[in-house]
Amino acid sequence: MTIGTAVSEADGRHWAEQLCIDGGPGVKTAIKALVRRLLAYSPDGRTAPVRERLATVSHRGRPYVPDHEGDLIFRLIADAGRPNCLEIGFGTGSTAAYMLAGIAALGEGHVTSIDFSADNFNHLGKALVGACESHTLIEENSNAVVPRLFGEGRRFDFVFVDGWKTFDHLTMEAYFLARMLTVGGAIMFDDAFMPSVHRVISLLKRFYDFKEVGYRDLGQGARLRLWLALIFRTSRRPYRALIKEHDIERMPVMNDWNFDARL
Ligand SMILES: C[S@@+](CC[C@H](N)C(=O)[O-])C[C@H]1O[C@@H](n2cnc3c(N)ncnc32)[C@H](O)[C@@H]1O
Repeated sequence: MTIGTAVSEADGRHWAEQLCIDGGPGVKTAIKALVRRLLAYSPDGRTAPVRERLATVSHRGRPYVPDHEGDLIFRLIADAGRPNCLEIGFGTGSTAAYMLAGIAALGEGHVTSIDFSADNFNHLGKALVGACESHTLIEENSNAVVPRLFGEGRRFDFVFVDGWKTFDHLTMEAYFLARMLTVGGAIMFDDAFMPSVHRVISLLKRFYDFKEVGYRDLGQGARLRLWLALIFRTSRRPYRALIKEHDIERMPVMNDWNFDARL
């Protein structure tokens, strides 16, 4: 699940409370404030309208994307010229909002979102994003939609994966998504610390030859990395993005019947 700002802050308080610091609550509060200030993320100025909009509509406890993750989505689209975008898991619409900001900065493009749950969060997403020509929401199970888009010969330059995350489901979708992605296209996974997501990322890196993006060059430097490690208490990134470097025919997975033996 995408972790919203409110949840992140709660987690931040949690780790800070684990610090064994003598000196009473005043000292702890001061240290927490200092750490927060030192590690504070500076958002991309170009995404300010998205953040302002999100600040007015966010519902506590709902999955809204944090600034730093939204900025990575925006940069992967706007700075690298990836106009045709797909997301699995529309929900509150916050990730779609960053994607739409990305194509708006490019001056072209389209965002297709898939989410089967009209009653879960989609109403929030629809209220956030509104009806616009550059966005299509498909309210069906992604296990039917993704193969169908592949069958229709659709191609995407950027894919954001934030739907159902069991290994079997993700592996099935990764098969189609890897083939629908244009060469030079990017695929980004939310909840990358989940073992199932981590395994699918490994599959794409090892056997599809996908390369991890250079996070530092995309505004995801060491301070943010440390902050995320403190919040989530793991060195694994909460979200990751990979680039498709070659056409599928040139990938190891197409030339080794038994590649899975090495998984
Ligand atoms: C974490 S939310 C997405 C949040 C959204 N990306 C954001 O940050 O604004 C996950 C969404 O995936 C949807 N979902 C889960 N499994 C799905 C499936 N198999 N097909 C379609 N949608 C699915 C859920 O309905 C839920 O709205």
